Amino acid sequence: MLDFSLSPEQRELQSMVRKFSKNEIIPYIQEWDEQHHLEMSVIHKLADLGLMGVCIPEEYGGAGMDYNALAIVCSELEYGDTAYRTAVSVHTGLNSMTLLQWGTEAQKQRYLVPQAQGKELGAFALTEADAGSDAGSIRTKAVRDGDSYVLNGSKLWISMANYADNILVFATVNPEAKHKGITAFIVERKWPGVTTRSMKGKLGIHGGDTGEVILENVRVPVENRVGEEGEGFKIAMSALDNGRFTVAAGAVGLTRSCLDASTKYAHERKTFGVEIGKHQLVQQMIAKMEQGLQTSELLVYRAGWLKNQGVRNTRETSLAKWTACDVAWESASDAVQIHGAYGYSNEYPVERFLRNSKALVIYEGTREIHTIMQAEYVLGYREDKTLNKMLPGWTPEG
Ligand code: CAA
Repeated sequence: MLDFSLSPEQRELQSMVRKFSKNEIIPYIQEWDEQHHLEMSVIHKLADLGLMGVCIPEEYGGAGMDYNALAIVCSELEYGDTAYRTAVSVHTGLNSMTLLQWGTEAQKQRYLVPQAQGKELGAFALTEADAGSDAGSIRTKAVRDGDSYVLNGSKLWISMANYADNILVFATVNPEAKHKGITAFIVERKWPGVTTRSMKGKLGIHGGDTGEVILENVRVPVENRVGEEGEGFKIAMSALDNGRFTVAAGAVGLTRSCLDASTKYAHERKTFGVEIGKHQLVQQMIAKMEQGLQTSELLVYRAGWLKNQGVRNTRETSLAKWTACDVAWESASDAVQIHGAYGYSNEYPVERFLRNSKALVIYEGTREIHTIMQAEYVLGYREDKTLNKMLPGWTPEG
């Protein structure tokens, strides 16, 4: 039986986060964005509401809700601004959920619990200057020395690099082994040898933090290795299954911002004696946004439903991420178009939506990576580990 309704708890969560964005982000975001300012009190308030660990079990300090609750939080937050959803994506989707899946009990107690409570912040450091889409080519090195590893290297484009307490860092213990040498470590930002700095000159997400993480002879105790040596690529890819889900859910919120702003303007603005919403070419853009919004939302909730069953969902998450982010980018472009010259200025929020939406089609797997993945699944070049779930008679246990 298919059920498309939200539970009463999910509805309550949706209205709470919607109100949060409306009161705590939207009135200030234009100014913060212009000043390149990340308002940390917003993150602290999210923590107070239990939203920094919404789908982490209660025994580990979270709210114990499901994946679609996480999607709701991301969507409603991005309705406010991409910066705050990105913070939740890297903290919860890429870092905390990964510790939940792969961490030891001691790692969960030390790092996951305070992160789920929002007392400490997490980030995720995979990308390097010469290793973005080709994540298997990272060069940051980890050399075992007694009871610790010594890490050297540099990570780029790391969201929340300058604010995170704990960074999930990927390094290689054997560069010749390519992805089979990659190993994951929890690195505390305050440790000797760790430096972070902001990256300037970004097109969008001016209200958020993006930085470089430099590791110089950073000594990481063996107990901070996540998984085994050489398991890091799988860990990174499974983390991205969760991170991409949060980006897709955020993109749904961004598309809704574009649609709401465009609908409002289409009623307000008059040309040729009628409101512009009466013109068919404007209607076409609005209808396309609605089509994309509904389609993206269904794909996100389907991926969330699969995650709730605990089955591998790489294919469905990739499709949701690809679709929802392309839709957000196209919707933002059309939203600017509908606003005409005003859309081209920061008098209206749609120019910010357009700049922010470009990040979505680039980070956590570019559009091109997802296109290739989908083609490879269809052509049978990439194994769909959970194909049976789509067949009649499939059950979560099956
Ligand atoms: N879960 C568990 N294991 C997985 C997995 C998953 N989701 N995906 C792959 N693996 C395993 C595979 O089973 C395979 O294991 P074996 O070697 O034992 O067989 C291994 O990992 C290699 O997998 P693939 O063969 O799929 O690897 P590939 O080389 O074909 O992958 C790729 C290529 C899909 C392009 C991949 O490199 C990729 O997704 N690249 C994009 C990287 C990316 O998204 N970066 C974003 C950076 S994070 C970011 O942007 C953060 C931020 O701050 C916003």
